[in-house]
Amino acid sequence: MMKVTDDRGNRDARMLWWRDATFGMFIHWGLYSIPGRGEWVMNRENIPVTEYEKLAWQFNPRHFDPRAWARLAKDAGMKYMVLTTKHHEGFCLWDSKLTDFTSVRTAARRDLVREFAEACRAEGLKVGFYFSLMDWHHPDGDGRGIEDAAARERFIAFVHGQVRELMSHYGRVDILWYDVPWPYDAAGWQSEKLNAMVRELQPHILINNRSGLPEDFGTPEQQVKPESADRDWETCMTLNDNWGYRRGDNHWKCAHEVIKLLGECARSGGNLLLNVGPDEEGRIPDESQSILRQVGAWLRRNGVAIYGSHRARVGWVNFGLMTAKGKTLYLLVDKWSGSELTVGRITGKARAARLLATGEAVAARQEGACIHLTGLPEAMPEEPFCVIAVDFEDEPSQASGPSCLWLTHDWGDPLKSPTDGKDA
Ligand code: GLC
Repeated sequence: MMKVTDDRGNRDARMLWWRDATFGMFIHWGLYSIPGRGEWVMNRENIPVTEYEKLAWQFNPRHFDPRAWARLAKDAGMKYMVLTTKHHEGFCLWDSKLTDFTSVRTAARRDLVREFAEACRAEGLKVGFYFSLMDWHHPDGDGRGIEDAAARERFIAFVHGQVRELMSHYGRVDILWYDVPWPYDAAGWQSEKLNAMVRELQPHILINNRSGLPEDFGTPEQQVKPESADRDWETCMTLNDNWGYRRGDNHWKCAHEVIKLLGECARSGGNLLLNVGPDEEGRIPDESQSILRQVGAWLRRNGVAIYGSHRARVGWVNFGLMTAKGKTLYLLVDKWSGSELTVGRITGKARAARLLATGEAVAARQEGACIHLTGLPEAMPEEPFCVIAVDFEDEPSQASGPSCLWLTHDWGDPLKSPTDGKDA
């Protein structure tokens, strides 16, 4: 087990808001948005640094309106935003004094990170900075430091210096989201020292696990994969198939898929950090906006079933999915089968049931471990998930039985069935 840089109690206090937040916006934005072929374009297409650098002189995002981004995030029901201050390409969206390869010293002449941070705060959202440790632009970022100690020292000093800038000049930063620690391990990056410095400058900050140390939360990528019970986690996910802007990628997840993902994270005590990739002008694609607004409209009516819901002994059901908070179970139904619905294997005594969006009472009859709901509208009253809240006398849970032994099989989520999620 690796050393964690602060104690558990302190962490619980720092993470309170984040555990409640559940849903955040990830933003991948940089020079790669100009060619529009994803954020790995420089590497995938083998573009030499001297060629790639020229993009900085074209990058002048006239439509960049971070308040509009933040309002969109709020409309979507998101509570925090994480921006790529520097992705693997090495281009800094802030006024770094350690390189000329910044948005301040090239065409845009703007400190985009400052504008972003101010916009988040103005809209009441928490501020997250993504920072790629891997840097394809820095002369010592190509791995030569593995053999060459002087090169490594130069590069580590550069990276620590950049993180110090971000932690010193932009007010309160709520999340530091490292990425890709290639080519070093935590010792090579001097991550303990680095993160101690970060915590000194921003004592309340949350740090992810990608500097080679576990820190505050894990980051399963493109999958909902809960970590062990005492570990916070956040699934990061693209809305289409790319993080950075990619022209022609129309593989959008629909609102139903996003809500399903959110529900899956929520029922297992995790967060969802959902990505948008603005174009070179700073516009978030219309499709992303529309999907996010649909999700937000649903969350305004049904968010109680999602935000702050805790990791509970509830798992697979055959009508959609189920989350739990305190003494209430939330049935997120996307397969409506008319006026009746039965939930089995429930331990706990049900008191009452209601349609969450309207508060309308639903008749509930309990027989042993089964709860029968009757008198429901024939047609599904709410899309894409209709939520029925069932209140119990005590904290309920879903019991497994002999026929459910496979539920404990390790597929990541201890209560996930072999078929759950595979039809998505
Ligand atoms: C991967 C990709 C990177 C992206 C990140 C988000 O590490 O390399 O482009 O930023 O995932 O988690």
